[in-house]
Amino acid sequence: MGNRPGKSTKLAHASSSLSFDEKREPVHSRKQSFHDSSGINDSSVLSNLQSFTYNDLKNATRNFRADSLLGEGGFGCVFKGWIDENTFAPCKPGSGMVVAVKKLKPESFQGHREWLAEVHYLGLLHHKNLVRLIGYCSEFDNRLLVYEVMAKGSLENHLFKKRVQIIPWPTRISIAVDVARGLSFLHGLEANVIYRDLKASNILLDSDFNAKLSDFGLARDGPSGDRTHVSTRVVGTTGYAAPEYVASGHLTPKNDVYSFGVVLLELLSGKRATGDENAGGADETLVEWAKPFLSDSRRVLRIMDTRLGGQYSKKGAQIAASLVLRCLDIDPRLRPTMDEVLATLELVQEPKDIMKSSQQINQTR
Ligand SMILES: Nc1ncnc2c1ncn2[C@@H]1O[C@H](COP(=O)(O)OP(=O)(O)OP(=O)(O)O)[C@@H](O)[C@H]1O
Ligand SMILES: [Mg+2]
Repeated sequence: MGNRPGKSTKLAHASSSLSFDEKREPVHSRKQSFHDSSGINDSSVLSNLQSFTYNDLKNATRNFRADSLLGEGGFGCVFKGWIDENTFAPCKPGSGMVVAVKKLKPESFQGHREWLAEVHYLGLLHHKNLVRLIGYCSEFDNRLLVYEVMAKGSLENHLFKKRVQIIPWPTRISIAVDVARGLSFLHGLEANVIYRDLKASNILLDSDFNAKLSDFGLARDGPSGDRTHVSTRVVGTTGYAAPEYVASGHLTPKNDVYSFGVVLLELLSGKRATGDENAGGADETLVEWAKPFLSDSRRVLRIMDTRLGGQYSKKGAQIAASLVLRCLDIDPRLRPTMDEVLATLELVQEPKDIMKSSQQINQTR
């Protein structure tokens, strides 16, 4: 959410129709307190989430101390905090359960809408590849969100930052499978949910490098019935957003497929979607830099991350690279569905990784 120097920039321009969150601007629920202006109007959402006071979260994060900072985005800062597993009351660092507390910058009106969309979607949707939202705080102008903490932080931090351990090939593919599974779950829902902001910083990793989607602020319901798309104002992030969406604001699940292609390309190449010195710098996006290689079977492996030191399956890399090319097709109708993407990536996974994934799937049944 939001623009930051040195990172891919956010897209936003005038709306041609109402967006999900605009349609749901505040309708107060009986459960809300008199100074709760959250606008959460769905009883299932409210019953699934814990409501925190501002004071609880201030205590849980030791007054939002700088040394508890996990990261910062356009929405605000994310702090580490501790709460009791049963009562959810704040507790001492190192005891109880560790959580990530995201604090919205008070001046951000756009942020409130995104906050509300996040609470709605993550309050209703549960899947092993979506980050778990534990609760929220809406008190006067304060808007906060409390999530399960993801020990290894974002994929962005692991893939691009210097002095971090290189992510090996099988883990990169298993991250791609996890992300594909999360998106395929969203697209398969009756509401046809479109995530709209897939990028490396919104993919969080747990201690075993299992990946989950975070940040549902821009998500919205997809087209239903005979409609081929929904019209929206253009939001998302440069370098990841599909070109036809940027040009028209027409939103379909295939926009997420394009962004997935960009993330998969980042996983293969270890290069950032925009502004990477080794892939076109400021003049070209990663997609523009990679396309000539992706469409030439003799040169395709030139896109691969040299830090892998050749430690990857050549056949697997070729299959993944041709999948990237299909996801990035200029014509959205020719892009695969997320179900097809998932099936292809599962073929690339090593047998031991598949065993690990299927064990995890059985555990969640
Ligand atoms: N649940 C979490 N567990 C651990 N770290 C987290 C969690 N949520 C966020 N973070 C860290 O905080 C950083 C900031 O997250 P945030 O979603 O606010 O911004 P962003 O995704 O980096 O950028 P943008 O604002 O463009 O979405 C993340 O990149 C990640 O490193
Ligand atoms: Mg984010």
